Amino acid sequence: MENINNKSVEWHKAIKAIEVPENGGVAVLIEGKQIAIFNFTVKGEWYACQNLCPHKQEMALARGLIGDLNGEPKIACPFHKKSFSLESGACLNDDLCNIDVYPVKIEEDFVYIGL
Ligand code: FES
Repeated sequence: MENINNKSVEWHKAIKAIEVPENGGVAVLIEGKQIAIFNFTVKGEWYACQNLCPHKQEMALARGLIGDLNGEPKIACPFHKKSFSLESGACLNDDLCNIDVYPVKIEEDFVYIGL
C-alpha cells in the first residue's frame, strides 16, 4: 500500500510497457475492472482510467483518441467523441459524470496501476 493524493493505493502489475502502443491505449482486467492504459509519448506520460464510457456504457475508452486540451491530457471516446480529462476524469464536452482515473508507474519495463 502507498499513499497518493490522500488515497491508499495498492499497485497491480498490469502489462509489459512495450505492449502499449505509443500514443495509444490498451485495456486490461484488474480485479474484475476493465482499465484503459495510455502511453502518451508526445507528453512523455502514462495515464489510466476506466475503460467504460459513461455515455452509452460502452467498453471503449482504450480505443479512443488521446489528445490535449489547453495542456490537459484527454481521451475522446471512439463512438460519439465525448472527451474526458485523464487527470481529473471530468467530462470536457458534456455534462456526463466523471470517469475514474488511476495512478500509473513503470518499473522494470512493466506498467503498474494503483487501485
Ligand atoms: S459511448 Fe462513448 S461517447 Fe458515446
